[in-house]
Amino acid sequence: MILVGSIDDIPDGDAVRIEGEVPIAVFNVDGELFAIDDTCTHQDASLADGWVEGCAVECPLHAACFDLRTGMPSGPPAKAPVRTYEVVVVDGMVHVRAPAPVGAGV
Ligand code: FES
Repeated sequence: MILVGSIDDIPDGDAVRIEGEVPIAVFNVDGELFAIDDTCTHQDASLADGWVEGCAVECPLHAACFDLRTGMPSGPPAKAPVRTYEVVVVDGMVHVRAPAPVGAGV
């Protein structure tokens, strides 16, 4: 698992980007945490920099929307889904169940 940080570091409506085998974005939507691949499947844009509305994030580059629960795009220009990851909170610390970056020792 990858340690993201304290739950206090991800305020409601905010997102953080973490490095892993692939970058992962963790979103706080009304206190519920979601983790997806950070890189849009259309081109190279960080979804953590996108806009969240409901349970979807809109890519900041060409406005494709991805469902934070499933990773599925709602329509073009993105056609492929992003991967989703399980988020685990233990004692106020947020973890994502994903391959740890090389050398992280987690
Ligand atoms: S880079 Fe995300 S929609 Fe184009």
